[in-house]
Amino acid sequence: MESKFNWGLLSTAKINHALIKPLNASKRTRLLAVASRSQSSADRYAREWKIPRAYGSYEALLADSDIDVVYNSLPNHLHAEWTIKALRAGKHVLCEKPLALSISEVDAMAAAANETGKVLAEAFMYRHHAQTLKVKEIVDSGILGRLQLIKSAFTFTLTREGNFRFVKEMGGGSIWDVGCYPISFSRMIVGEEPIEVFGWQVEGPGGGDESFIGQMRFANGVHAQFDSGFKSPSRSFVEIVGTDAVLKIPNPFKPGIKNELVLLHGGSEKLLKVGGTELYLGEVEDLCDAILFGKPSRVSLQDSRGNIAAILAFIESARRRTPISI
Ligand SMILES: NC(=O)c1ccc[n+]([C@@H]2O[C@H](COP(=O)([O-])OP(=O)(O)OC[C@H]3O[C@@H](n4cnc5c(N)ncnc54)[C@H](OP(=O)(O)O)[C@@H]3O)[C@@H](O)[C@H]2O)c1
Repeated sequence: MESKFNWGLLSTAKINHALIKPLNASKRTRLLAVASRSQSSADRYAREWKIPRAYGSYEALLADSDIDVVYNSLPNHLHAEWTIKALRAGKHVLCEKPLALSISEVDAMAAAANETGKVLAEAFMYRHHAQTLKVKEIVDSGILGRLQLIKSAFTFTLTREGNFRFVKEMGGGSIWDVGCYPISFSRMIVGEEPIEVFGWQVEGPGGGDESFIGQMRFANGVHAQFDSGFKSPSRSFVEIVGTDAVLKIPNPFKPGIKNELVLLHGGSEKLLKVGGTELYLGEVEDLCDAILFGKPSRVSLQDSRGNIAAILAFIESARRRTPISI
């Protein structure tokens, strides 16, 4: 490789903090630019994070021919629009989760990636972490027996007043924000799409849910249950129940350098230690591999499409108060 890939941040979103370190650490990437809706905010941000170029509009960043990859960290309702614009401007895109808010948006994004030959991936960082790979390996080894049930949760107390997460039209609601993780994790473990979902929600003042409780049924007989929410203390876990053993993952979505899994097997409890690299480095390296070597991303667009389809079915189920077949 002659030089590093130049990355540009689309917005000054809070989550950028998580990407800046890996972008500076990877041998294959350089953080070159940030764009904001105002020049002063872009300038301030660029000074704070030592980013060489600052743009006062998203269009200006896309017009910079030195930028190879765009990180789309905009609010959820802008993911499709700006990802497609970035792809059409000749950029590869790492787009934050959820990839989009409808199947037609996902399909339009995939079509744009196809037509332009650029790489597009959803930034589900946990999917690249060693702990996630280990969990999948344990399940696939058969030690749990026949899979029966996956239980999971992801909640926190949302205090960011005026944030897009409260506004339905901006892709607000806990199922889009954090519920997408348990749904993604369960689908990954089962290795297929659910055939039926049933969900309940508590609606927040902005129209999106402030807590969601859902269950999925898969054709192979596995069931998955989760809850997500903005009104409870921070908690997250996954528990995978088989006929012979249970695997507990106390920190499934934001694993760190040192992690522990718990395997309940044969009447005893075994702690399994799993190391890992910095959480957000994996998605950066995965995208570089996809660009350089054509390696399929761990989070394929088909996979992202399946997650969005499940989320939409859950929302429809909660609205109609009935199970929905997918
Ligand atoms: N993977 C993860 O671990 C993780 C964690 C947190 C969030 N996320 C995802 O990252 C994305 C951003 O979340 P965040 O909490 O970091 O966002 P945030 O802090 O609320 O920032 C979003 C940014 O979008 C820009 N923006 C453009 N139009 C806007 C509008 N109409 N209203 C508000 N902001 C607008 C603003 O930047 P400018 O003013 O600079 O233009 C704003 O700073 C979401 O899709 C979220 O799901 C992922």
